[in-house]
Amino acid sequence: MLLVPADLPFPASPEALYGRTGPWVLEIGFGDGRFLVELARLHPEWNLLGAEVAPASVSRALRRLKREGVAQARLFRGDARFLLRNLVGPRALERVYVNFPDPWPKKKHAERRLLQVPFFRLLSTRLAAGGALLLTTDHPEYYEFATAEARASGLFEVRPGPPPPETLRTKYARKWLDQSRPIFHAAFVKTAEADEAFPPIRRYPVPHALMQGTLPPAEAFRKQVETAPEANVVLLEAWQAGPGLVVLARVEEAELAQEVLLEARPSNKGVYVGLRPSCSPLVTAGVKRAVGLLVRWLEAQGLETVQRSY
Ligand SMILES: C[S@@+](CC[C@H](N)C(=O)[O-])C[C@H]1O[C@@H](n2cnc3c(N)ncnc32)[C@H](O)[C@@H]1O
Repeated sequence: MLLVPADLPFPASPEALYGRTGPWVLEIGFGDGRFLVELARLHPEWNLLGAEVAPASVSRALRRLKREGVAQARLFRGDARFLLRNLVGPRALERVYVNFPDPWPKKKHAERRLLQVPFFRLLSTRLAAGGALLLTTDHPEYYEFATAEARASGLFEVRPGPPPPETLRTKYARKWLDQSRPIFHAAFVKTAEADEAFPPIRRYPVPHALMQGTLPPAEAFRKQVETAPEANVVLLEAWQAGPGLVVLARVEEAELAQEVLLEARPSNKGVYVGLRPSCSPLVTAGVKRAVGLLVRWLEAQGLETVQRSY
């Protein structure tokens, strides 16, 4: 039920993902998963997809879907834009729901809002002809902002209307209705398609290096940081694993954040530096950079690189 970045096929075949065909519907920011359960009850023929960035919410939603016996949903922990770009093929989705998105009310945070022209451009390539995004929100300013952005994209028609009753039963809907806040709703119906293809992120072969010399003890390790336009990489901590070292790295790229375990261990050819076998991230440019950063730290500790493949 849980999709992980390294296993996302592109373009995904709903038959392979769900074992059946049917309308494909995405919920962005599913929170505790309540709305997915509602959709499964109302539309047993729909194949449901959910994206949610908060890990605790994903765990809660997974438990809820299992408890409620919902088998027609696949969940992704991460940014919906990454999922759209890396799993959903052109014109594959019938509908997208966004219920009570984070409004980012402060002006300096407005750039974090999801529903902006670049998002609508990407979405237009993944929605089927006549497909729509349904927005329900308690936040008048975000509602105005999102409708203006959708219109500015030139790719969507905004159709305001009453919210579908099921969108008023989510956790946040209940919270705001209890406070008697007004609720705003519109369907953004696709009328045209952006001319870019929005291809999935580039994947690389597993990066590694061979070094010579003596590994330093884990206590010698200090946090390493590399910032670059394509990826931010931090080597957070290292610990001893037998004669080798394991290093925890955080790799942040556009719309994707991964925690990656690296290792440096003696082998019969020298010191092998690469990904820990138990860890299978999506091998991106940022993951290659993480291995490179570890190699450079080991070079600074006196090891010599004899072979590099990244
Ligand atoms: C205010 S909550 C609403 C949750 C739920 N839809 C409800 O109505 O109860 C917004 C949710 O969107 C999630 N979120 C924000 N940006 C996201 C993104 N780019 N992709 C996926 N989820 C996102 C947040 O983690 C949060 O759980």
